[in-house]
Amino acid sequence: MKAMEKSTDSSFVSRRRLLTTGAAVGAGAVVGVSLDRALASTPETVVSLHGAERIAFHGKHQAGIATEPAAQVSFLAFDLADGSDKSTLVRLMRLTSNSAARLTQGDPALADTEPELARKPSRLTVTFGFGPRFIKLAGGVAPSWLKPLPSFSTDELQDQWSGGDFVVQVSAEDPVAVSHAVRVLSKDIRSFGTLRWRQDGFRHAASTVKTGTTMRNLFGQVDGTVNPIPGTKEFSAAVWADKGWWAGGTSLVLRRIAMDLDTWDPVSRLGREEAMGRRLSNGAPLTGTREHDEPDLEAKDALGLEVIAPYAHIRRAQTDDPTQVIFRRPYNYDIAPSGDSTSNSGLLFASFQADVDHQFVPIQQRLAELDMLNEWTTAIGSAVFVIPPGCEPGGFIGDSLLG
Ligand code: HEM
Repeated sequence: MKAMEKSTDSSFVSRRRLLTTGAAVGAGAVVGVSLDRALASTPETVVSLHGAERIAFHGKHQAGIATEPAAQVSFLAFDLADGSDKSTLVRLMRLTSNSAARLTQGDPALADTEPELARKPSRLTVTFGFGPRFIKLAGGVAPSWLKPLPSFSTDELQDQWSGGDFVVQVSAEDPVAVSHAVRVLSKDIRSFGTLRWRQDGFRHAASTVKTGTTMRNLFGQVDGTVNPIPGTKEFSAAVWADKGWWAGGTSLVLRRIAMDLDTWDPVSRLGREEAMGRRLSNGAPLTGTREHDEPDLEAKDALGLEVIAPYAHIRRAQTDDPTQVIFRRPYNYDIAPSGDSTSNSGLLFASFQADVDHQFVPIQQRLAELDMLNEWTTAIGSAVFVIPPGCEPGGFIGDSLLG
């Protein structure tokens, strides 16, 4: 209630005004009930604070992968300085792992210049990944899939959003927590390399939807329905590597995919649903009524045409081979447009899988060959990283490679 009383939220203010002037609030309002009790009984006034929530940093796997995604993300990729070697990289990873371990638990980093900003981690996670050059400089053996993706006919990749030696994914419910962690980590990293790109993304803010609700992308689609569920055998098999120094880790494919909202605008609702094979209202397949209904790819309409079109995104993306499943963890992006466009938006398409060549590439190949969504989407950035396993207290991320 304390937080509510301080709230300047306009709906709160107008609700208070309605109550104090004796007007009814919805069907449940009762004249004579104390103001605070009446407010507490309206579902939209239940405030839950996320500031103090912490996600463990140490463990078998790095956080930020199986973790329920938080509202805000920043991905940062760095180019390592020439002359870096194994001992440099050990120092880099000790330093950044230490900062991440502290910040995620609500403790200021060593020599934190704004320690107060560390106190509300709000589910902060920091996830580190290595590009091919990192492994080479470390003198290690890279997984065979750690290389740029093959070029796809639909790609229009830009250097400014592609590649990188070292990636850091910083995520939290609160943009202030993300900003502070990004700054602390960037200061840690600055003597080891230079920032190559930064990509910021978002999902629904905490408390706007129930935990576990599938997010919506900026086309308005429910995005992430068919995905392995963290904690299940299917998830472990799809995501966690079981061999090499990266066992317990995984791979990150990050594609920056522009979504042309200006040309999407005139497309009818029917056309939009046909391109996807799912309904916009709740994400149900066109052959079903609820989000998680199994799509019937054989179903035909009265004219004998497939209900889920041959070019529908879900038909092209789905796989019958359980070993080719990927785990998608996308975020929206929305930055200032240029020229005549009204928007510059899209998806930070992040996927985690044990083997990029075996799992990600075949899906992307099928989509590049045929996918109605390609009319409005273009990959403009691409990067692949190995995500090392987690570490124990006293260790550091990458110690199975560098230790
Ligand atoms: C801006 C680009 C994209 C958008 C807007 C988009 C959107 C969607 C949506 C709305 C769904 C249906 C709901 C769901 O199951 O999540 C879906 C499914 C899926 N997408 Fe995408 N997607 C994009 C790019 C990609 C890419 C690049 C890949 C992989 C290379 C991919 C792989 C998948 C997979 C595997 C499914 C589940 C298919 C199934 O088994 O039903 N998507 N996507």
